[in-house]
Amino acid sequence: MAGNWKMYKTPSETRAFFDAFEPLVADVTDCDIALCPPYLSLEAAVAATEGSNIAIGAQNLYPGKEGAFTGEISGHMLSAVGCKYVIVAHSERREYFNESEADVVKKVRAALEYSLTPIVCVGEKLQDRESGNTETVLGGQFDGGLAPLTPEEFSKVVIAYEPVWAIGTGRTATPEIAQATHKFLRSKVEAKFGAEAAAATRILYGGSVKPDNVKKLMSEDDIDGALVGGASLDPKSFAAIVKFQA
Ligand code: PGA
Repeated sequence: MAGNWKMYKTPSETRAFFDAFEPLVADVTDCDIALCPPYLSLEAAVAATEGSNIAIGAQNLYPGKEGAFTGEISGHMLSAVGCKYVIVAHSERREYFNESEADVVKKVRAALEYSLTPIVCVGEKLQDRESGNTETVLGGQFDGGLAPLTPEEFSKVVIAYEPVWAIGTGRTATPEIAQATHKFLRSKVEAKFGAEAAAATRILYGGSVKPDNVKKLMSEDDIDGALVGGASLDPKSFAAIVKFQA
């Protein structure tokens, strides 16, 4: 269960979140928990969660170790401050920062080089879904961003399916729609990397996940977890999601 805070929470707000959140999930042993604060709050988050069952991730990285790339942050730096995960190609990065499938491949490799687990986002827009092009779009994102990886590289990747029309809109994909799409993605993994890889790959659902809809989503065969935006900002609501409690 991963939370994506987007451009929310200063270091002191981050500390306050973990003061409240940690005790609520201290007894959770059957699920990996990760939160992805903005860059400037990563150190505060890592310090606050040391020795706990909560891992910290970043929301983006720039490929390469260091260099003349003004304003950018590398996987090397994220790893050095204690991050374990990094989100790659969130739809907001694709939309506002023109990230392409070629960037996905570079960023995944850069993450793996510094021992970060990449959470790679894929998802179709409303017009794609309505025009019947969901599988073409997702297939293209898979073929361009994930299929070029070696089996060894791919085995360390987490996929997040986030239909763009469901992000921040309160309009969740129904469990049936999400399940069918996850199944399609898993079939793509199987065709490229084999049945064992397909069974082992974690595919998270994202898009308006809340305490009251998580249980139904998680009961679907091919949904292995959630990537949560808005509802991960509140400690009680994210703890309820981690525990599937409405
Ligand atoms: P949301 O965002 O949960 O606020 O819809 C999900 C995401 O963008 O990862």
